[in-house]
Amino acid sequence: MLPVSEPLLAGNELSYLRDCIVTGWISSAGSYIERFERDWAAYCGRRHGIALTSGTAALQVAVDALRLGPGDEVVMPSFTIVSCPLAVVRAGATPVLVDSEPETWCLDVDQVAAAITPRTRAIMPVHVYGHPADMDPLLELAQRHGLAVIEDAAEAHGCEYFSRRAAGWRRCGGLGTVSAFSFYANKLVTTGEGGMVLTDSDALAERCRSLRNLFFASRRFQHEDCGYNYRLTNMQAAVGVAQVERIGDMLERKRRVGARYDELLADVPGIRLPTRRQWARVNRWMYGIVLEDEIGMDAVEFAACLKAGGVDTRPFFLGMHEQPVFRARGLFEGVRLPVAERLHRRGICLPSGPTLTPAQIESVVGTVKDVVGFATQRQAMAGQRIRRRG
Ligand SMILES: Cc1ncc(COP(=O)(O)O)c(C=O)c1O
Repeated sequence: MLPVSEPLLAGNELSYLRDCIVTGWISSAGSYIERFERDWAAYCGRRHGIALTSGTAALQVAVDALRLGPGDEVVMPSFTIVSCPLAVVRAGATPVLVDSEPETWCLDVDQVAAAITPRTRAIMPVHVYGHPADMDPLLELAQRHGLAVIEDAAEAHGCEYFSRRAAGWRRCGGLGTVSAFSFYANKLVTTGEGGMVLTDSDALAERCRSLRNLFFASRRFQHEDCGYNYRLTNMQAAVGVAQVERIGDMLERKRRVGARYDELLADVPGIRLPTRRQWARVNRWMYGIVLEDEIGMDAVEFAACLKAGGVDTRPFFLGMHEQPVFRARGLFEGVRLPVAERLHRRGICLPSGPTLTPAQIESVVGTVKDVVGFATQRQAMAGQRIRRRG
């Protein structure tokens, strides 16, 4: 079975890890933590990095750092991971969902503008599957209404956005008031599990550091607020430092995989390929395809056929407005977001890891073509039967 993604740990990971073990710096103090925070913040063009245990923790700390709470609303896409609304719900605030653009799969900026109310305190754009959200209009909206921007860049390592405001290319994660990253094993830069908040604000950075570490005050075992233990270990950070050293190579590999899929799938009927806006430099973190209606199969059946052919896939997100966990809490009742709903039912992520070889990509495409052929033939036969009966 060809997996969806495998990490590439081919640089200094082992040597830095050995260093942690030999020196005994295995916990959350140690030089690799600071180095990882500094390197990643610098790469993304930010002043501060606060390393955390996951991307989910990073979103939670970001929301908490901004002191969002009951009565506050945060506008975000429905088509994202549960970590986004969870961070808001856990703070007692309310997520307000908008639909996605059918092309980039990122939140629809016009719908964000329409969703702003006097209770809105923040916008949470998500750069979905490695395509940046259109940040300029969001930042303008935020400025006009005095809102914070929590940029979820978990899937957008190394992606860039051409900002008309800044008159230049800016790295994703370097645009919001705060940004959140995940370093889970399928991300371009991985620490196994891990995350980070980036910001330019000294005050927010200080609060994030306190939140990460149980809000210890200057006096030992005295606490000034409710914190978490979300401390990354020096060992994880050591892996992260080695990974950041090779981000250029990782990006290049991912882009090569994406470009080859673009080329080989271009003339396959019934499949919509990921787009790229002019203002975006993408990383093709997950190479997603969307099945057109002429393919008489939904994503679940299509994925099962690919699996039978030895190709593992991942489904697209199930929109947050369709999640039982939130419906049970009375959230998003009656909300219909057709783009997010369609993406979930028709979208599939193909194997996209940095270790994929050209032969493996060709083999995936061969299997995709077989399944498309089968689905089209079955659809035609069903059509004939209906006509005969008619
Ligand atoms: C967009 C997005 N945000 C947040 C997260 C949460 O990251 P983690 O799995 O590290 O908690 C993920 C995870 O993949 C993600 O895709």
